[in-house]
Amino acid sequence: MRIAVLAETDPDESRVAATAETVKKYIGLGAEVAVEAGAGERSGIADEDYAQAGAKIEPEAASTVRDADIVLRVRRPLASEIAGAKQGAAVIAIMDPYDYVSELQSLAAEGVCAFGMELMPRITRAQAMDVLSSQANLAGYRAVIDAAAEYGRAIPMMTTAAGTIPPAKIFIMGVGVAGLQAIATARRLGAIVTATDVRPATKEQVLSLGAKFIAVEDEEFKQAETAAGYAKEMSPEYKAKQAALTASHIAAQDIVITTALIPGRPAPVLITADMVHSMRPGSVIVDLAVERGGNCELAEPGKTIVTENWVKIVGHLNLAGRLAASASALYAKNLLEFVETLIDPQSHSLAIKWDDELVKATLLTKESALAHPSFQAAS
Ligand code: NAI
Repeated sequence: MRIAVLAETDPDESRVAATAETVKKYIGLGAEVAVEAGAGERSGIADEDYAQAGAKIEPEAASTVRDADIVLRVRRPLASEIAGAKQGAAVIAIMDPYDYVSELQSLAAEGVCAFGMELMPRITRAQAMDVLSSQANLAGYRAVIDAAAEYGRAIPMMTTAAGTIPPAKIFIMGVGVAGLQAIATARRLGAIVTATDVRPATKEQVLSLGAKFIAVEDEEFKQAETAAGYAKEMSPEYKAKQAALTASHIAAQDIVITTALIPGRPAPVLITADMVHSMRPGSVIVDLAVERGGNCELAEPGKTIVTENWVKIVGHLNLAGRLAASASALYAKNLLEFVETLIDPQSHSLAIKWDDELVKATLLTKESALAHPSFQAAS
């Protein structure tokens, strides 16, 4: 059984799908591992590290995937990049499937089984395979670090002989995995932290982290969480009440970190241009939702902008990738946990259990067609 680790081709992607540690584990499972030269460079893993762990370093994508049973990547590979893999090989990555159906069809045409790690169900058994959580957690941390770096003042209160510096006020909007880590990080830095969300369950979580909870807690709020644990799109009436409540609060904040998302929808706009203009000069907004349209009306993907009233709005893409070594270590472990479920330990070969709920939820292509229920109409 051959496992191929491809290098990333997107210049914005600094992570890698395997570490020396996971390579060793794959070899322990009876696999031979091929790593494309330079794959780990931006995560601080040299080819030599992989070689010492037992991998064969291949000069290019074509020789890396040749006759592979399993191909690992961070981002969805092009069909041409996995063309030499075995028929029925498992190609596992963050597939970003919804806007890229024709790319999925090209992968299907190569006869491979493409798996999207972001579709992993959030059940106890799959917790160690949850890439959304492992990467969002790091993104939430990094958002606060980026904000602190952009902010021209200290975060903690400092009492010195020359005077007292007040603690920064940090407001976290959206308290999922990223938001919770942002709260914890801001608290560790000594900020005065407040947070908001539309799901009632978050209130206790916010309080337990030592932050203050701010939200419109009406009847709609009580019903805002879906059975799957996600937020619903709120009504225009709720949004207006929420904006009225948060507007004066935002005006008094030094840093605002936004992480609010609704599955399958554009990110809700929580900070209008007027709210940005109400903030003091030197304030910082970091918008984690910028890839999905942004929670801040003025945020721009991949850019840091400074408004007329000197508010910085940070719109970094791939925040987890700004901590490439940590993000790769966790992503590689997520992949290892999933791959272990796809291998028969006796025969040391790929043995996909088609009835397994993890496989059913993540399998996108099989036998040259789209296999996921969300894309059946397109096949
Ligand atoms: P997400 O990335 O989809 O959204 C981030 C946050 O934004 C959520 O807390 C959401 O309620 C909030 N939000 C949406 N609209 C908003 C609005 N208009 N105003 C303010 N906040 C708004 O969420 P994430 O991080 O993926 O977590 C979703 C759920 O999954 C949570 O219930 C979490 O506890 C759960 N989860 C479960 C895991 C498990 O293994 N069982 C693992 C990780 C998360």
